[in-house]
Amino acid sequence: GGNREESHRSQDRGFFTSKHLPIYRHKAKLVQAVEGSTFLVVTGETGSGKTTQLPQYLHQAGMCRNGKIGITQPRRVAAITVAQRVAQEMQCTLGREVGYQVRFDDCTSQDTVVKYMTDGCLLREILADPVLSQYSVVILDEVHERSLNTDILLGLLKKMFSDPAKSTKGRSFPLKVVVMSATLETDKLSAFLGGCPVFAIPGRTFPVTCTFGTAVGPKDVESTGYVKEVVRMALDVHTSELAGDILVFLTGQSEIERACDLLFEKAESIDYRYDVQDQTVEGLLILPLYGSMPTDQQRQIFQPPPSRIRKCVVATNIAATSLTINGIKYIIDSGFVKQLNHNSRVGMDILEVVPISKSEAEQRAGRAGRTSAGKCFRIYTKEFWEKSMPEYTVPEIQRTSLTAVVLTLKCLGVHDVISHDLFTFKHLSLWCVGCRRGKVTQLGELMVEFPLQPGLTRAVLKGSSLGCQDLLLPLAAMLSVENIFIRPGNPEKQKEADKKHRALATKSGGMNDFATLLSVFQLCKSSDRPSAWCKDNWIHWRALKSAFSVETQLREILLRLQQRDFPVETFDGNKSELFRRCLCTGYFTNVARRSVGKVFCTMDGNGSMVNIHPSSSLFDQEADLNWVIFHDVLVTSRVYIRTVCPIRYEWVKDLLPKLHEVDVYELSSVARQEVTDEEMIKWETREAVSTEDIVKKLEKR
Ligand code: CDP
Ligand code: MG
Repeated sequence: GGNREESHRSQDRGFFTSKHLPIYRHKAKLVQAVEGSTFLVVTGETGSGKTTQLPQYLHQAGMCRNGKIGITQPRRVAAITVAQRVAQEMQCTLGREVGYQVRFDDCTSQDTVVKYMTDGCLLREILADPVLSQYSVVILDEVHERSLNTDILLGLLKKMFSDPAKSTKGRSFPLKVVVMSATLETDKLSAFLGGCPVFAIPGRTFPVTCTFGTAVGPKDVESTGYVKEVVRMALDVHTSELAGDILVFLTGQSEIERACDLLFEKAESIDYRYDVQDQTVEGLLILPLYGSMPTDQQRQIFQPPPSRIRKCVVATNIAATSLTINGIKYIIDSGFVKQLNHNSRVGMDILEVVPISKSEAEQRAGRAGRTSAGKCFRIYTKEFWEKSMPEYTVPEIQRTSLTAVVLTLKCLGVHDVISHDLFTFKHLSLWCVGCRRGKVTQLGELMVEFPLQPGLTRAVLKGSSLGCQDLLLPLAAMLSVENIFIRPGNPEKQKEADKKHRALATKSGGMNDFATLLSVFQLCKSSDRPSAWCKDNWIHWRALKSAFSVETQLREILLRLQQRDFPVETFDGNKSELFRRCLCTGYFTNVARRSVGKVFCTMDGNGSMVNIHPSSSLFDQEADLNWVIFHDVLVTSRVYIRTVCPIRYEWVKDLLPKLHEVDVYELSSVARQEVTDEEMIKWETREAVSTEDIVKKLEKR
């Protein structure tokens, strides 16, 4: 096999294959089209070479003379891996001519002219430089995904050109905008951009045969039993189908890790002499793929497997359009995806596992037919398809509450956020953090600089003004990285890990999950051998390393902000109270009060019933826990709050009414005109709703 393996590898070298990509034949015309108009829509099947090739063509055509080419991606993994690939194809070191920037990880330099980045990063850049003066071309990629930030960018760029005086001010050369989409639904896009030209790259796909399963029906929408079924199906394909790689779609990291463990265990017992249909297949290479994976592991995904080995990639939705893995012939589709939704049951945005849409399912299946005919195995029934799966995925902008984005827009001077073209904002929370009467407050201006969610930012700023940033910055870092606690699949080991984790909680004083995170950070950081410390305590060392780096970066941002007009406050009380009070200023939206037994009731307008998650150190506490704040919510058949700490009612008493204030200025210009003066006065002089009233009201339910 040595030779075969070698030839396999050389085929993967970019400069060899890139000429075979569908986009290659259209190189000259594409460059011309980009040069010829301000906006251009480019569409083509996933895998046709849009993301990796077009920026290179523009670079070769000299379009980096005046400025950089920036390419946005909704997902960080895509930004990183694509940049790696392009650097390899252009034969340069990553971070030099070709680089990437994602939140908390900037791999660019003075020399960088082709810059891949997340859409969130470009949004931040627009904040600092509204005409993007450093760029000659901006490419918004994966527009069909309708990610919130890309949608907003699209609106902002359109707005920028609708006012020619503005779009050229501060620029010495014109900006070109390319919008790339995998689907052919480009008419709407082009119309939105003033009827701009559309360049469609003709693609070729092979037929994919889809089969429905029997395991997941409409009744199983909330069950998590599908992981086992997915694993069973993957093994079935491995043993009974001809050579060709497998791509499995699941929803998230822990699920993927569990599936990989199971697969690995089961694959070990296969007897390749008897159990396998295709005798050229002699092994299974199992590779996970999810957002927060380390980059060296991500790179492995794209490498062809050794000869006679079948590759099985277990991925999140990221492999549906953002990334193309060559050699995939079989798809196993779980039918589910993890999605950020505004949950009216809980009254906030949470990540939930939901059925995918039919269009999404077709996209997933299509990944098997890129280079030859393929097969897609759906684990769900035809009935599930008909009854539980929507036709299309609802865009993020219509699913989430947008507080952070509204703040960003307002800082950009886009005040009529609701009437913002193209979009229908649905779940705008009325008390937008950092905004008062429709205007950005001084606090809001500081907040927008932090790449963290508004609540956490607020807590960090409060802590910093009180001089305890050393408590809040590490905590914010820990909440920004992937899950740090290792939960092994093996029950014996799980017990051992649980014990260690409980000990860590106790060490930090117990009864406060935020403090536990802080303490893990500090203990690990001060340890002589941090990686060994992590191993010993069942903590992900990789996650801790990221947390250290994130903390440093947040500290730098804070130092910069402290040069400005930064508030200073004092507090006398103990450290634990100080810490929790700071948290309260950010998390007053996430307050819950004990209702009956172990059930808590949230304090927002919804008054949802929630339970403390078993992973919390407060889970088994009988003590007089009456009020708590929480970091996040997990919805299964029950609603759980995770990362919890007890607080005192007095600390949130004055903040809670803010949740129920209606800030009329937040409404669109139309709505604003409809608000009569009389109402305005009423609003301004109205009596504040007291917390007691709210509690009473909620108790009546
Ligand atoms: O953007 P589009 O979906 O049109 O295609 P692309 O992402 O530019 O992918 C073009 C080719 O590059 C595909 O064959 C990918 O498999 C390959 N590629 C790769 O091998 N490694 C990467 N990190 C990214 C892309
Ligand atoms: Mg692409």
